[in-house]
Amino acid sequence: MSTNNPLAVVILAAGKGTRMKSDKPKVMHELMGLPMVNWVLRSVEQLSPERVIVVIGEGMDDLRAAVKPHESVVQLSQDGTGSAIKCAMPALQGFEGDVLVLLGDTPLISVETMRGLIAARRASDNTGISVLGMRLDNPTGYGRLLMDDSGMLNDIREEKEASAEEKLVDIVNSGAFCLNAASVNGWLDKLSNDNASGEYYITDLPKIAAQENIKTKVFIATNSEEVMGCNTRLNLSDMEQLAQQNTRDKFINSGVILQDPSSVYFHHDTQISSGTIIEPSVYFGANVKVGANVHIKAFCHFEGADIGDNSVVGPFARLRPGADIGEEVRIGNFVEIKKSKIGNRSKISHLGYVGDCTMGEDVNFSCGAITVNYDGFDKHQTVIGNGAMVGSNVNLVAPVTIEKGAFIAAGSTITTDVPEDALSVERGRAKLLKGWAAKYRKEKQRS
Ligand code: UD1
Ligand code: MG
Repeated sequence: MSTNNPLAVVILAAGKGTRMKSDKPKVMHELMGLPMVNWVLRSVEQLSPERVIVVIGEGMDDLRAAVKPHESVVQLSQDGTGSAIKCAMPALQGFEGDVLVLLGDTPLISVETMRGLIAARRASDNTGISVLGMRLDNPTGYGRLLMDDSGMLNDIREEKEASAEEKLVDIVNSGAFCLNAASVNGWLDKLSNDNASGEYYITDLPKIAAQENIKTKVFIATNSEEVMGCNTRLNLSDMEQLAQQNTRDKFINSGVILQDPSSVYFHHDTQISSGTIIEPSVYFGANVKVGANVHIKAFCHFEGADIGDNSVVGPFARLRPGADIGEEVRIGNFVEIKKSKIGNRSKISHLGYVGDCTMGEDVNFSCGAITVNYDGFDKHQTVIGNGAMVGSNVNLVAPVTIEKGAFIAAGSTITTDVPEDALSVERGRAKLLKGWAAKYRKEKQRS
């Protein structure tokens, strides 16, 4: 018995996923914006295995790129999970230790569960295989674990071959195995495709090992939801909900306040510090970081944004990639910000667009003010110094610099730089025709 055997991991991901009705390889479908196969890899990396090999199908270049820097091998014939693991074996030549086999379509499996499965294999020298099992109310579609009275596994019966009696077994194969590398090649040579699918099943290995008096131990996952496999679009949307729910729970437990958790959607990489309040109906796209004690009001949409501590954002704010919001900033309703740095305590309280801008601290960017950053060909920068006051409905035509403390009068279209503490007004002089309205009204009423 050894608890620190070297570990190699093989992830089976070559299946086309016909049941997904999609051109993409199944494991490239995303949960919370991350392909399923990368969820598995993210957990696997925490085990620090010596080798990781992903079995992919022919022409799956996007998948090969997505799993890098890990090695991938191509399974030319898509003839079953047994054949897939066989394809990985040449890459493991000379490897001694345990081979953890995982399915690329089982993305939510936790590292603790993987550790439990590995420990089950290592529990005795006579245990050549451990299988990750789960108990399900509805086991339909999964391979059934056929165990003897002592709890040892004799065989795994796929749905297609199961008798009516075997279908009643509610402990099923989650698809993850831990195998003793020394014996695997011999067992794989004995696999046959004489079954209902005409495929080589990895699930035949326990039966083959038993012929050599090698035992297979079942490790039951405590949380069956994490080892659910994804075969259909409906499975994928169920898993998305589950992953979202897990993430909401994680944030709530870490001190983030979600007023209506089920209406808030996160990306797999969302970061939020404690004390932050999130009102209902907020969407987090890729790469968003929110500091501590931030108040996010309802109906906001964020992508690629960084929000500093104690800021207030929304309702109805849109932060696009490169929105770098300082501390104690106020972003109000119907404000869009992209590729801009907003200094501490600045206020963009209503109806504004800020793009390609560096805004200093304590700036007031009033209602309806915008940066005019695009000339039809190129984007240009706007720079606004500390303490500047940009009035309502101002157009800042970039490239333009407003130096610190300057005032821009409401309604101005600014095309030239404004020096420190100056006032820039760009407005037509008002023409006043006394009594004109009354006369006009009278005329209209007569006709
Ligand atoms: C498999 C198991 C079943 C288990 C279920 C758990 C077998 C024969 N059946 O069934 O016992 O209950 O998973 O989710 O193993 N793959 C390849 N090459 C192939 C075929 C599949 O790499 O030739 C990969 C797929 O990309 C997928 C994984 O193996 O990631 C599982 O394949 P899938 O067809 O989904 O098997 P299930 O029918 O779900
Ligand atoms: Mg599957």
